[in-house]
Amino acid sequence: MKIFIDTANLDMIREINSWGILDGVTTNPSLIAKENTDTPTRVKEIAKIVDVPISAEAMSLDAEGMIREGRELSSIHPNINVKLPMCIDSLKATKVLSEEGIDVNMTLIFSAQQALLAAKAGARYVSPFVGRLDDIGMYGTEVLNQIVGVFFNYGFETEVIAASIRNPIHVLEAAAAGCDIATIPYNILQQMVSHPKTDEGIQNFIKDYEKSKK
Ligand code: G3P
Repeated sequence: MKIFIDTANLDMIREINSWGILDGVTTNPSLIAKENTDTPTRVKEIAKIVDVPISAEAMSLDAEGMIREGRELSSIHPNINVKLPMCIDSLKATKVLSEEGIDVNMTLIFSAQQALLAAKAGARYVSPFVGRLDDIGMYGTEVLNQIVGVFFNYGFETEVIAASIRNPIHVLEAAAAGCDIATIPYNILQQMVSHPKTDEGIQNFIKDYEKSKK
């Protein structure tokens, strides 16, 4: 499974890239706002730091605007793909953009039916939001399983990005479901590294090493 980081923070991207595990970056308007910048400026900066796919979200709500913004965003750097929110206009825009060779990441996906339509329109990625489904008492992982199953049944090449990841269990479940990608916040990536038994083991080895030197 590929690991993307879900952030617009440059230091976090640099740090995770230095771990040798980074396959991509996803941003959204909320993450960009936290950094007090704008999407074109920030994705240009990210593209200078890492050579991986970068999602940049278009803000238009009509197909014509999405197509215009999609062309503008993708012209910033070849690694940039365009995030569009799931709706009828974004399906129309996806069809046009994908035929021009511009990758679309269809975001705010909450059902396998939405993912099926996005894939048929030519989306390169679909982003089901696991955590936000859990928030409303549904089981987000079940939607991941359904989407992966539907894409497998019909041989869609659209990649599934498990998004809205809130804890390490979400990552494990995304991998078990067969998602192509999980886009993960920085703090969850750190949590994935840690285990109390690892820390304890390191301390014990250090203690024994010190004893053996005497
Ligand atoms: O990738 C989408 C993600 O940023 C949304 O996460 O935690 O705001 O639901 P969250």
